[in-house]
Amino acid sequence: MPRHDTVSLPTGTVPARFRPPTGASDAASVSLDGPWRFRLFPSADTGADPADRGDEWDTIEVPGHWQLAGAPDTWPYGTPAYSNVLYPFPVEPPFVPDANPTGEYRRTFEVPAGWAADGRAYLRFEGVDSWFEVSVNGAVVATSHGSRLATEIDVTDVVVPGENLLSVRVTQWSALSYVEDQDQWWLSGIFRSVTLEHRPEASVAHATVVADYDHTTGTGSLTVEVEGSAEARVTVPELGIDVAAGETATAQVEPWSAERPRLYDVTVTTPGETVTLRAGFRTVSIEDGVFLVNGAPVKLRGVNRHEFDPLRGRSVTPERMLEDVLLMKRHHVNAVRTSHYPPHPHFLDLCDEHGLYVVDENDLETHGFIDGGWVGNPTDDPAWEDVLVDRVTRTVRRDAHHPSIVLWSLGNEAGSGCNVAAMTAAVRALDPTRPVHYEGDWSSDDVDVYSRMYATSEETELIGQGVEAPLARAEADARRRQMPFLQCEYAHAMGNGPGGLSDYDAIFDRYPRLMGGFIWEWIDHGLTRRTDDGTEFAAYGGDFGEDFHDGTFIADGLVLPDRTPAPSLVEMAAVFAPVRLDPTADGTTLLVRNRYAFRDTSHLTFEWTLHHGDDVLATDTLDDLVLAPGEERSVAPPAGLDLPSPDHTPTWWTLRAVQHEADHLDAPWFDDAAGSFVVSSGQLALTPAVSLPEATGRAQQTSDGFTVGHARFDARGTLLELHGRPVAELRVDAWRAPTDNDRREGSWVDLSDESVWKESGLHLLAERKVSAEITDGALVVTARTAGPRTRNGFRTVYTWRPVADGSDDVDLHVAITPEGRWGQSIARLGVLLVLDEPGAEDVAVRWHGLGPEESYSDSRKAAVGGAYEHTVRSLQTRYTHPQENGARRGVTHAELTFADGSELTLDAGPSSVGGRSTAGLELSLRPWSDTALDQAAHPHDLVPDGKLWLHLDARQHGLGSAACGPGVLSNARLTAAPAEVSVRLASQPVGR
Ligand code: GAL
Repeated sequence: MPRHDTVSLPTGTVPARFRPPTGASDAASVSLDGPWRFRLFPSADTGADPADRGDEWDTIEVPGHWQLAGAPDTWPYGTPAYSNVLYPFPVEPPFVPDANPTGEYRRTFEVPAGWAADGRAYLRFEGVDSWFEVSVNGAVVATSHGSRLATEIDVTDVVVPGENLLSVRVTQWSALSYVEDQDQWWLSGIFRSVTLEHRPEASVAHATVVADYDHTTGTGSLTVEVEGSAEARVTVPELGIDVAAGETATAQVEPWSAERPRLYDVTVTTPGETVTLRAGFRTVSIEDGVFLVNGAPVKLRGVNRHEFDPLRGRSVTPERMLEDVLLMKRHHVNAVRTSHYPPHPHFLDLCDEHGLYVVDENDLETHGFIDGGWVGNPTDDPAWEDVLVDRVTRTVRRDAHHPSIVLWSLGNEAGSGCNVAAMTAAVRALDPTRPVHYEGDWSSDDVDVYSRMYATSEETELIGQGVEAPLARAEADARRRQMPFLQCEYAHAMGNGPGGLSDYDAIFDRYPRLMGGFIWEWIDHGLTRRTDDGTEFAAYGGDFGEDFHDGTFIADGLVLPDRTPAPSLVEMAAVFAPVRLDPTADGTTLLVRNRYAFRDTSHLTFEWTLHHGDDVLATDTLDDLVLAPGEERSVAPPAGLDLPSPDHTPTWWTLRAVQHEADHLDAPWFDDAAGSFVVSSGQLALTPAVSLPEATGRAQQTSDGFTVGHARFDARGTLLELHGRPVAELRVDAWRAPTDNDRREGSWVDLSDESVWKESGLHLLAERKVSAEITDGALVVTARTAGPRTRNGFRTVYTWRPVADGSDDVDLHVAITPEGRWGQSIARLGVLLVLDEPGAEDVAVRWHGLGPEESYSDSRKAAVGGAYEHTVRSLQTRYTHPQENGARRGVTHAELTFADGSELTLDAGPSSVGGRSTAGLELSLRPWSDTALDQAAHPHDLVPDGKLWLHLDARQHGLGSAACGPGVLSNARLTAAPAEVSVRLASQPVGR
């Protein structure tokens, strides 16, 4: 039998078989999931004798990873380790270290008495990481690998009546680890289910299902080939189909699409078995370089999904899978790339049922070879051909019956070489109906779509236009230019981000050649741990004491590990919405675009509201807005609306596309509790935000300083007290706790934003008061703010004035002028106000502005002008790795209610940077400083410090996607420029 460190095919296994949904077959099966005996050995050579029953050993749950056996409290069998690209062991394929944790699993089983008379018995392993050897009754019967692929072993001839001993030896590292170098935790063991299956005589050994749809005639055609019996019949009762296997039947059908996932029960009957599959009729094609489903161009608005659960790792429960699928549907995801391996088969059943286009990816990644210039890469080594072809063959045979799969992917980041062609040939031979995808070879010689990851929006646009840089080989270039283009990864959702999603989406929509893309990635892979005092947190690379790891790079999902939506998910939903309502250039109409490929908008009601601050002024519905797929129409607010006179808060006309009822295809993801589902919204400001009314009061000089309404200053102009609250600090700020995107260089610059900011000392800004005097009745304080070592700084004029004589309320106008040589980005420009406020986290905040979630200048599609409330605590986004978060933009009014019931009210006029003015300001509130936020490794490191930190910003820098991809685009980049902010601060008792 081959060892774990040889490049060889599995032995003792049978050809891969399609996986019908659980319960679809009437052939018997017995689950072998549950407690198994388990013992971990330090090396592959010290495992136990397969005949050893392990009666004294520990027990472990199968399926599961041994490293997570006691999570989150104990780690009895080693700990998870995270590395992205580079191998955590010396690169000398096929060898792996002697120190090779090896799990020995034991359990007994009985073959049900009736089986012996008829047919055969198989053991089926859905997934074992990484190499394993199976013994029955002490004798080795098979060795296998392909961690995320199924293995079937015919055990008919080795089982005995009554009890049988099943022994499985699993090594953590093997030759196959070289081709399973995906960016994720290294986690081992029998992590998917094990079953004992009966295959009666003349049963369905394998079925190939082709269910096409001709959109010109509405005809579906079905051909099911069956291996294992010559007498198979195929019936579809709903369609009156009853044919022999291998014959093609046709009928008028409703097609399958992700929008309308119509399935039909297809029953395959052989003398020994009846299997009921769920088939969807649909045709995938590429015509004139355009990707089509059922003849219609389809944009993939997708996400990359790794399998992950914060307690169970890649051993994901059906409930989690359903949760993922429903969350995707509710957030307008229409496609999923199963990065970077075939998912648990049940996930594909769910994609069929609920409607998601799938790129099913083979279990292959050899990214670590990049470090040595790809020398020795298995993808280009004939010695590996059989193994790689075996993998892709098993993928296609297991999954091809799923209508949801629209592309096969050969793997991820495995370089190029001879085995790409060999794998493609294998896929095409098994399934000529779907295009083949592989990103790792940009020549696209062997595949059907041109695929890239993290191409900038500029490059994507050139590709859309068909004028991208040519390949050196003219023939290959001409071929590639005929292909549709896919961004198999883009918009890296690490921490706070991505920014720029709207820009990509607009480009995808503009060019037929662009078939869309898949955001990286769906889930943050933070594993649940507990601190000594029991506080749970999401652990990333290094949190298990690994010496070699890639830190926070594993925390890059649209949903947090427990599936709490990150703000990026909400943003994505607004960008991906199948019906978009976007203001036209002149801001007077909304362009309603039906981006469904197959659905009109008759299931939606278009409801509008006219509102200003807390007040709803009018509501109604727009009739006659049934748009065909692809149709668009501009709509204007009804004439004659009664508008308030303009003040500092805009009057919004907000239009929403709302679904009130769900038919059976929409019902599973429709939120019954809410009774309606807002598909999309868009708004127009019908009255512009204008400046605050002029303040008229006069500041007072006192013996030791100044008073302006309820604001008290020392003689240098330092603010000491505001409405009776001690002020710890007021100064200009231009820094933020860097996001993961700020920390990295991105694809086009040498220095990260964080480094640029550090060089300018933005993280250590200090303010010097230059002068303080009363001019024209206002207290005018001039100050200079700068960091260490640089001559660059900001000169600021703070103008304070009571709103009226005798009033406690004060107006503050701040004019900031950069001095020196500023070229590159800055993080923010505005004022930081720090109040002494124990219990700041419980301060309640109501505001008028954009919300309800955080937004940034390049991540703002989901932000809607309105009235919202939160507490300071709930304004914070608990990113797995703490960083800048929580900014609310366009804030024209905010009321803070303190523990004692008192209030501080803030009204903001338009603010401006570089002469560009926008309504209100950008407000962030925290119970800790940005420095503490920057230094925290995990959310639980952040402890309220007894102060309320308020940022009143004219603007913040955008987010970009530089953690992996392009940085902040010019449309969201903040550079030093003259800026102005004006606010009115008032104190109101509760219940005024
Ligand atoms: C890509 C890779 C993904 C992931 C991502 C960064 O290059 O395909 O697996 O590593 O970068 O998060």
